[in-house]
Amino acid sequence: MSEITEKKKVLSCIQPSGMLTLGNYLGALKNWVNMQEEFDCTFAVADLHAITVRQEPAKLRSQIYSTYAIMLALGLDPEKSTLFIQSQVPEHTALSWLLSCNTQFGEMSRMTQFKDKSAKHADNVNVGLFSYPVLMAADILLYKPDFVPVGADQKQHLEIARDIAERFNRIYGDVFTIPEAYIPKTGARVMSLQDPEKKMSKSDENANAWVAILDDKDTIIRKFKRAVTDSDNRIIVSEDKKGVSNLITIYSAVTGKTSSEIEKEFEGKGYGDFKLAVGEAVADELAPIKANYERFISDKAELERLFKEGAQSAERVARKTYFKAMKKVGFVL
Ligand code: TYM
Repeated sequence: MSEITEKKKVLSCIQPSGMLTLGNYLGALKNWVNMQEEFDCTFAVADLHAITVRQEPAKLRSQIYSTYAIMLALGLDPEKSTLFIQSQVPEHTALSWLLSCNTQFGEMSRMTQFKDKSAKHADNVNVGLFSYPVLMAADILLYKPDFVPVGADQKQHLEIARDIAERFNRIYGDVFTIPEAYIPKTGARVMSLQDPEKKMSKSDENANAWVAILDDKDTIIRKFKRAVTDSDNRIIVSEDKKGVSNLITIYSAVTGKTSSEIEKEFEGKGYGDFKLAVGEAVADELAPIKANYERFISDKAELERLFKEGAQSAERVARKTYFKAMKKVGFVL
């Protein structure tokens, strides 16, 4: 007799805006891979989100391919998980309209990412940037996930997605599952190597501030050697040693060692030794991803075959939820 057990569902997405970083990897992508066996997973390249800031079309196109290839290179397997590109499943934008009409202006105005990004791109504070979290709520709610693995910076967006879903269900009847954020204990907020008060981000102009998943070993080690620390030379976690604490977090997320084990390991040693150890550990973790990536990115036809198939299976799920929501609101199908 075959035993049928429903796996819990997981969904997450990543923007294809520029190089993916060690922050993306430790905050989100590493968990995606870890969750693949136990859960029914759906992961997407959130390309529609990327145009909330101006993108150069040819560059955007190549970054979409590259981000999809990185997902495969990480070990995400299209036989086990649904891997697709957001813009190829039109239900995302369609549902986002229904949700927009059930989201308050005030709620969106409170989003810290909107405040930050509109300050940074003051010449292009577009409506899409403002309503971005509604599209993100649609990305999530279409697939009825139980868990959404993200870094800490997406927590507020997850909360608003839950609020929107709860409100919709209350007004129109049960359509959406209320998702939970799944945030890693270590690595949820990887900080810049040059300014540990700031999140590590691919949009940082100083390339020494972030490590790309596809950086080579020498570059990674060089960036860690240059990481900003302090002059006290003790390797301990502390509020007033943000640079060193960030490096300990990174080392811990990569090696699985606890902070106190790391403090012991480097007792009496200097920053030079420590930074080299962190750089080497990170480089060793990322090396196989880079090697796999070169293989996937060189076969464009295969990438296209995979993402088309992925979009078809995503759409089968998305369409059901979208039609249900449409019917509940009163549309004629
Ligand atoms: P994005 O593309 O900025 O980042 C992708 C994932 O990486 C995490 N992350 C970090 N984690 C730790 N430390 C960092 N320095 C760091 N930088 C980035 C992010 O938290 C995220 O999990 N809005 C989302 C994309 C999105 C999405 C969705 C996510 C669109 N639709 C639906 C989940 C569900 C974003 O801009 O992530």
